[in-house]
Amino acid sequence: MCARTAGFEADDSQQQIVEADGSIAGRLREHGLVMVDGLVSRESVLAFARRVMTLVPHRDSDPDFLTTIHDIGQGALRPGWAGLGNGELLAHTEGSSVPEPPRLMLLVCLRQPVSGGEVLLTDGQAVHDHLTATVPEAVDLMGRPGTAFYGDGGGRPAQIFTRHPGGRTSIRFRQDELAQFSPVVGRCLPDLKAAIAANQRDIALLPGQGYLIDNHRYLHARAAVSGPRLCLRALGTPLFPLQPGFVAGDAGSDGRRTP
Ligand SMILES: [Fe+2]
Repeated sequence: MCARTAGFEADDSQQQIVEADGSIAGRLREHGLVMVDGLVSRESVLAFARRVMTLVPHRDSDPDFLTTIHDIGQGALRPGWAGLGNGELLAHTEGSSVPEPPRLMLLVCLRQPVSGGEVLLTDGQAVHDHLTATVPEAVDLMGRPGTAFYGDGGGRPAQIFTRHPGGRTSIRFRQDELAQFSPVVGRCLPDLKAAIAANQRDIALLPGQGYLIDNHRYLHARAAVSGPRLCLRALGTPLFPLQPGFVAGDAGSDGRRTP
């Protein structure tokens, strides 16, 4: 069963909540997530993305820096390419293996699959606070530098939780073939996965609907897809001030934020 997470208020009815730019910045700062709707074309997705971020290219992006997310067949079986397949994607943050993972990620559905393909979103703040309340020693271990390794060739040294000045925290995580962990952190992964599962929300996106997340706070995942599905993704740097990471420790012991 999924916990209710702040920022998902509009999800219950899937109603349109495209907002003014200022409201988007405020909601991202507070909740790390903004649901969007009405973006039914590549042009409208690009225009919206450019209102909130400076787009950055990705290995798979097109010349306009949008990435077309669809099944590419056998090529998606390569390590690190699963996003371009039809299989299940486990919770992760985007760009964990690059030196500076993008701060913002926008994903919009343009074509709904026959079945499956639901997006699963998890607030890293809730995950962090869930772990703090249940296995605090695991949180400490997951914040130690050089205990996670993301990418090819043994991976880039990193850690699941990064501490910033002022008590803020960000999350960086993947759980595919390109992720390795030190033995002590590896033993904590079941706790982390349980915390993610307890706080995950699933959403079936209709054409034109999508989400904008703080990629240093929110984890995203995808259920297996049946039939053609088409999404567009933008990655970038916010055009408004956004402090590093999130404030940890102000959620209830069950992972829900207190009023
Ligand atoms: Fe992803």
